[in-house]
Amino acid sequence: MKNLNISAKISVCIYEELNQSEKKLIDAAKEATQHAYAPYSHFQVGAAVLLSNNEIITGNNQENVAYPSGLCAERTALFYANSRFPDEIVNAVAIAAYTNNDFTDEPITPCGACRQVILETQNRYKHPVRILLYGKKTIYLIEKITDLLPLSFNADYMTADLKIKD
Ligand code: THU
Repeated sequence: MKNLNISAKISVCIYEELNQSEKKLIDAAKEATQHAYAPYSHFQVGAAVLLSNNEIITGNNQENVAYPSGLCAERTALFYANSRFPDEIVNAVAIAAYTNNDFTDEPITPCGACRQVILETQNRYKHPVRILLYGKKTIYLIEKITDLLPLSFNADYMTADLKIKD
């Protein structure tokens, strides 16, 4: 038996070290937290998507009394961006979280379902999606979603034998 070691590169920095466009995207994600609909968790998440036309699309979590019917901030923003601008590449997604009257000290990382949707976006546009995760004390910069979703399912697995036949 041998081991398979999987590694991911995550750059760790603080807000002051970011460039202007990174700050702008994170500011947009922070602002989006303020419009979240989170009456159950009181955990307000904001996401900002940077498109290749330089448009920034924001979204936030939308909860529901039937809990699974709600949607995370990342998917709210991405699905809207993709539906409104289907031909624009998604270059980056910034995420921030606000709870107990403040932003979190440490970054929050996207849930599994959101990682899967970001992966679909990355594959769809054949372009790495950069992830910027905001925390007041620490920021994570990740160059591509595959760093957060190793061993992901991909279409190559669907060999002729597995594909649905017409
Ligand atoms: N949430 C997000 O919007 N994005 C994440 O990456 C993690 C969790 C939301 C879902 C739910 O409304 C609340 O945060 C608490 O889990």
